[in-house]
Amino acid sequence: MSTVDLAALVRTIPDFPKPGIQFRDITTLLADPAGFADLIARLARIARPLDADLIVGIEARGFILGAALANALGLGFVPVRKAGKLPGKTVGVDYVLEYGTDRLEVHEGQLARGARAILVDDLIATGGTALAAAQLVREQAATVLMALFAIDLPDLGGRTALEAKGIATSAILA
Ligand code: PRP
Ligand code: ADE
Repeated sequence: MSTVDLAALVRTIPDFPKPGIQFRDITTLLADPAGFADLIARLARIARPLDADLIVGIEARGFILGAALANALGLGFVPVRKAGKLPGKTVGVDYVLEYGTDRLEVHEGQLARGARAILVDDLIATGGTALAAAQLVREQAATVLMALFAIDLPDLGGRTALEAKGIATSAILA
């Protein structure tokens, strides 16, 4: 069993990026070698039995955790990025935010038909970002085996929203 108190390594910064938001900052956890290793080991323990083909990480902090997890599992890593960041030909999905819309993209061909993917991000709040990423994976006829997070903010309903779409959801800290 883990002896690392991961929750204690996550810093909460009030009023970032706007008033009223309690921002969960994982940079303090990432900077702690034992904490970072323990977090990846705990994610890997959940992910390994699923026998996935690849890890899909969501910009930006999902890249850090997703890439480390992919490496721990011996899998490849595919980045899902905000619009206009990937250099090759992309496919994308538009999604609605609190104000306006945003777009997530992935390189065409990197989500093979039938591929079994685990979606990774640092945190799930409303679930809007993860739902859009899952839609993108599914539109390529790949499968989302699970959406996996370091942190769930359960009061914001993201996990419930994902599970309502048939996406198994797991988080280390809630
Ligand atoms: C954060 C977090 C998730 C998303 C969760 O990213 O890393 O991707 O918000 O919120 P949701 O469940 O309500 O969609 P952010 O939008 O801050 O982008 P960044 O990681 O690129 O800074
Ligand atoms: N993304 C959405 N809500 C967040 C929060 N409270 N902390 C960090 N990232 C977030």
